[in-house]
Amino acid sequence: MHSHDASDDLKKGTRTVGAAVRLVRPGGWERDTRRTRRAFSYSQYRITLSEAPRLGDAHPYVPAQGDSMPQTDFTGRRVLVVGASSGIGRSIALTAAGGGARVAVAARRRDLLESVANQVDGLAVPADLADPDDCARIAEEALAGLGGIDLVVHCAAVSPITPITKTTAPVWQRLFATNVVGPLLVTSHLLPELSPGSLTAFVSSRSVGRPYHGVGAYSASKAALDQALLSLRLEHPRHRFTRVEVGDTAGTDFNRDFDLDTRKELLPLWLAHGALSETLLDCDDVSELISASLAQLLDRPGISANNLVFHGAGGIITSPDQRPMIGTREGRRHARAGAGGQQV
Ligand SMILES: NC(=O)c1ccc[n+]([C@@H]2O[C@H](COP(=O)([O-])OP(=O)(O)OC[C@H]3O[C@@H](n4cnc5c(N)ncnc54)[C@H](OP(=O)(O)O)[C@@H]3O)[C@@H](O)[C@H]2O)c1
Repeated sequence: MHSHDASDDLKKGTRTVGAAVRLVRPGGWERDTRRTRRAFSYSQYRITLSEAPRLGDAHPYVPAQGDSMPQTDFTGRRVLVVGASSGIGRSIALTAAGGGARVAVAARRRDLLESVANQVDGLAVPADLADPDDCARIAEEALAGLGGIDLVVHCAAVSPITPITKTTAPVWQRLFATNVVGPLLVTSHLLPELSPGSLTAFVSSRSVGRPYHGVGAYSASKAALDQALLSLRLEHPRHRFTRVEVGDTAGTDFNRDFDLDTRKELLPLWLAHGALSETLLDCDDVSELISASLAQLLDRPGISANNLVFHGAGGIITSPDQRPMIGTREGRRHARAGAGGQQV
């Protein structure tokens, strides 16, 4: 497992909410520090909800049974994670390396990507999935650098927030190039070279089939990727393709493209349509579970897991006086330490 540092604290957990909020101020988004960006995007969600009356109400928090990690043995495995400069992809890369894998990571933000590559003693492939040449290069460099590939995890996506009829042609094109065409091109380049028993996983979304206001274009792109995956299975029956559906997850950069004014406007609609989960997944927690599942599947080449689905436990938020629970380890420790079993 990767080591814990202060920035991990900042992105999650009860203890860090105060710190996160203190960092938010007008212009905060522009501040060029990783911490501020993370704190801003994460805490803004909470602040928006917190504007409702009865601020301070907290939901009972159900602690997990323990902080122990699932069995995640990647010894001798060669793993490519596309979209690994932040969020779920970064966490999966760190977990796989912690379990003994040799890892290659791809994404656009070179500094973040190289920092991940350094942490995993792996290979960084700075690349833009919207560029077909870069897609070919990701496959070539990862294959050459790792000497073959056993597991590919596609985590890259962009998520603009815009009503579907206001989505402009360039936004549609960029969205589909990144979320659909790019991962499929990388896969097409890799397939002939993948080792027997290999696995290709695509991270999908809870919003497929259940779109909510403002993310229609994004969920359409994820639906397209899901559908393409069915054809991959059909045309390449000797390879395994796993769709990994995740629910709303805290501690990633997913919301960075969200326009805050639009989000405020959309909040009542999200509440009315039950779009907000009561419990957010924690990025590291869910990534470790995903990694453990994929590691176990690599050990069992006779099993194809077509769908892995990870949602936050509990229900949905239906009124503005509810606040989301964040299912973090810090929260669990806090709850066990006798903080009233609540996480705020
Ligand atoms: N967070 C959630 O609530 C949630 C819910 C459901 C599904 N998901 C899915 O989970 C996956 C991971 O998202 P996340 O939440 O971890 O968000 P994230 O932190 O924003 O991660 C997205 C990754 O994709 C990379 N990426 C974006 N555009 C790219 C491009 N053109 N070329 C190469 N890499 C690109 C980003 O790196 P660069 O910007 O450096 O390129 C980043 O590493 C995504 O597929 C997302 O759709 C997330």
